[in-house]
Amino acid sequence: MTDASTGVILAAGKGARMKSRIPKALHELCGAPMLSHTAAAMRDAGVSRVVVVADPATAETPQLASAAGNGAKIAVQDEPLGTANALLAAQAACQKFDSVLVGAADMPLVLPSSVRRLLAEHDSSGALVTVLTARLESPDGMGRIRRDSAGRPVSIVEEAVADGETLAIEEVNTGWYCFTSEWLWGSLEKAQFSVNGEKYLTDLLEMATLEGTAATVEVEDPAEAMGVNDRCQLAAAEEKMRRRIRTRWMQAGVTLKDPATTYIDVNAVPGSDSVIYPGTHILGNTRIGRECHIGPGSFLEDCEVGDGAKVVSSHCEGARIGSCTTVGPSSRLRPGTKLDDRVAVGNFVEIKNSTVGEGTHIGHFSYVGDAEVGRDVNIGAGAVTCNYDGENKHMTVIGDGAFVGSGAMLVAPVTIGREARTGAGAVVTKDVPDGKLVVGVPARKVHRNPPEGEL
Ligand code: UD1
Ligand code: CA
Repeated sequence: MTDASTGVILAAGKGARMKSRIPKALHELCGAPMLSHTAAAMRDAGVSRVVVVADPATAETPQLASAAGNGAKIAVQDEPLGTANALLAAQAACQKFDSVLVGAADMPLVLPSSVRRLLAEHDSSGALVTVLTARLESPDGMGRIRRDSAGRPVSIVEEAVADGETLAIEEVNTGWYCFTSEWLWGSLEKAQFSVNGEKYLTDLLEMATLEGTAATVEVEDPAEAMGVNDRCQLAAAEEKMRRRIRTRWMQAGVTLKDPATTYIDVNAVPGSDSVIYPGTHILGNTRIGRECHIGPGSFLEDCEVGDGAKVVSSHCEGARIGSCTTVGPSSRLRPGTKLDDRVAVGNFVEIKNSTVGEGTHIGHFSYVGDAEVGRDVNIGAGAVTCNYDGENKHMTVIGDGAFVGSGAMLVAPVTIGREARTGAGAVVTKDVPDGKLVVGVPARKVHRNPPEGEL
């Protein structure tokens, strides 16, 4: 490949069929904007500079910059005057390259391998334009590839202006092309307005055949040509991408008990020999270690899970779960939760913005918020850190080896010392020194060893 270094993504236009305030290219598929999937396919195929053409309002947004990825250039199409006009907006950002790869942001299923073949074919054929095509049983809505009697591509005909014979053609334009730069920019200037007031990039195929040659490359899997113009197509594309992601992880050594009800986002990473049970969502930038058991019915978003952990029917967001730690069933970890190794969080426990030390047990019905909990602590059933006084949030500190009795209310700010104990139902309003026992409401120190059952 002489010039696999620039790729233009067309992401402006009205996107009217989405009926949305969100620009079409920023609608998400498997946890990432469509545009970022297109950019990833280009980069995976060896493109080093990505140029995104956006409308003026979207071009300014941080969402667009983040979806386009590091180093991407943003070009502005002032008015939605069609795909040819959109590509022209990228000219300044592409000038020094011999050829220009173009992809549509709403064709996010095109695989890097197809893009590589498109680039290679363009390189070797000497064509002015090479079009990535697909053969579809129902080509509805797509531009059809017309060929001459010798089988050479001669034009792309948009569905709106196609006659019956053309509509019957199954070979369609995917909206991905490679152009020879020298020829491209002048030809774009010459493109004429179509009946609907837009300048079509597809017209360049016919122009190329008049001035030189055009070539085509067909995708390997027709599903790559699934475009997203409305919400039904968005759902269909998501389903297809989800299947691909599941297949990839199963091939990498992850067991999915029920692939159809397992949702793994494109940037999530489950570890090998982990078993994912039905009805589980592994979303965002979640990382899961080896030999974990996740689900059934677990939801993890932006979480980090150590090797050998178990998360059953629980909802976890922005949490770190240590190795061999168990969570659930039916618990909730909110952002800022950091559970060390071998922690046991049982059922109906909510934890937020708290660190929990190795070997600690929080078995049943507890709320732990804004807390630093040490190692080998036992937090009894129903114990609560009362972190909010109606105006501010306060910290609770629980030392290593402490024992918090069932139903204890720890009114923050408060410290429970190392090896200290609180009685069942105690309302702890003052710090408890290391090794001491407090009981009652409000809790007071006792100086004897209480009989069993009083704790
Ligand atoms: C286009 C092709 C069609 C092809 C299909 C594949 C044209 C005229 N037709 O049709 O042959 O089969 O894609 O998906 O190109 N865009 C802009 N600025 C504009 C208009 C569009 O940036 O002024 C962008 C859109 O964001 C989109 C892409 O170009 O990502 C394609 O535009 P769209 O309107 O979806 O074209 P289709 O009707 O799908
Ligand atoms: Ca489209």
